[in-house]
Amino acid sequence: MSLTEAPRPAFRPPAPPRPEGPIGPLSFLLGMWRNPLATWSRQSFEIPFIQAEGVMGRVAVLNEPSAIRHVFVDNAANYRKDALQLRVLSPGLGNGLLTAEGDEWRAQRRALAPLFTPKMVDSFEPAMIACAEWLVARWTPLREGRRLDVSAEMSRVTLEVLQRTIFPEGLARDPADFARAMGRYFDGIGQVHPFDVLGLPKWAPRVGKRDTRQELRFFAGAVADLVEERRASLGASSEAAPRDLLGLLLTARDPQTGEGLSEAEINANIVTFIGAGHETTASALTWSLYLLSQHPDWRAAVEAEVDEALAASIDAPGAIDRLVRTRATFEEALRLYPPAATLSREAIGPDEINGRPIRAGDTVIVSPWVLHRHTTLWERPDEFAPERFMPGRREAIDRFAYLPFGAGPRVCIGMGFAMREGVIILATLLRHFRLDHAPGHEVTPMQRITLRPKGGMPMILRHRAKPVKD
Ligand code: HEM
Repeated sequence: MSLTEAPRPAFRPPAPPRPEGPIGPLSFLLGMWRNPLATWSRQSFEIPFIQAEGVMGRVAVLNEPSAIRHVFVDNAANYRKDALQLRVLSPGLGNGLLTAEGDEWRAQRRALAPLFTPKMVDSFEPAMIACAEWLVARWTPLREGRRLDVSAEMSRVTLEVLQRTIFPEGLARDPADFARAMGRYFDGIGQVHPFDVLGLPKWAPRVGKRDTRQELRFFAGAVADLVEERRASLGASSEAAPRDLLGLLLTARDPQTGEGLSEAEINANIVTFIGAGHETTASALTWSLYLLSQHPDWRAAVEAEVDEALAASIDAPGAIDRLVRTRATFEEALRLYPPAATLSREAIGPDEINGRPIRAGDTVIVSPWVLHRHTTLWERPDEFAPERFMPGRREAIDRFAYLPFGAGPRVCIGMGFAMREGVIILATLLRHFRLDHAPGHEVTPMQRITLRPKGGMPMILRHRAKPVKD
């Protein structure tokens, strides 16, 4: 068996059934409420460019790499985040980096970019390794065969990473409480209410929607304490702030006006970075571990790689770069279960995309969930085939056919951070443990801000033989 080949055919990772044809407005609204993934028809995965008019107004769904490049890069200035996305995200994330537009967005992105340069990500590596080892220490005393909710465990460890990197002075609250609050908050706001889809005003009561005020109060309290503690420790001179997220937010100055970020922008960004920075990576890690559990031959190959590459230590020079099967697994998990399953924009002015007219106000949707499984772009699109991301083959994948982190000016600022973190945590866990999917639990991917397994991911913990250190 060649280890660059998928050794076992035809494991089809779970996905909701696809309606045969376009669905009616009522089914669409219900689907958006229950699970937006289930609203995509079979044709969506086969037709490269769909234009339609429905409850969301005029919509174009793009699965053509050149069309996607046009919207995200070449003519990005003509597209902004659309109203539905803002209605869903803004209550908690305010005008943070994910949701801000125009000059406000530019000033924030410029201020925060220094925290995510490759050099900074390198400097975060020891903290990421320490967090992965922290999780190993947490699981090591657990008995063989113990059932774990891997989804909750991954949220916990990725939050720990944020705490030890971009929030080195902590989050002013117990991280376990924070992880739970963020999970509940995303569950609540991520359920897209029909009134939001229809654009009804805020005062119209969203009956049935989970109330997230308690979580918002929790975040507001934590953020206020964080900022107050930092301001107190800095005294009068905020120029001496450490160059962590809070330091950069507090000292950011607009080069033209010399103005700093407003209190609201600072607060919104703290919640944005905690939200965008841990649930996403946690989801990708959870799916990686699940997919490996369904593919024992590939899992054995990844374990062999990890044992060899980390024989001395994960921080030995070049050790992480040698984890090519681990990285391919993480990238394939991001393909099959992209944590940000839908990206959307609104056209500011009229445009033409590959010869199709776009009017001002049209919504343009690029769904990594559909794009990554599109029959015109991928071989065996619905199968777990991590070898497609191995060196030598990965280069053939079109940049605009694979968008787990988006593209263009609004590309994920944490992409390099998340990739490093994902590979380190996955490799460290695989060196010590083997996780099997818990029998009797049905896995259903569900879109709630991030794409997560419905009801968590129960898995059975097995201890691998103690790794031998050289
Ligand atoms: C596997 C993990 C991650 C995935 C799949 C992911 C995905 C994405 C995507 C697709 C976007 C672009 C959204 C759009 O174009 O509408 C985005 C933006 C963003 N991400 Fe991530 N992300 C991940 C990890 C992180 C991490 C670790 C951080 C921070 C520590 C982060 C912070 C952000 C922020 C602040 C933005 C907004 C950037 C802007 O608009 O300028 N993300 N992310």
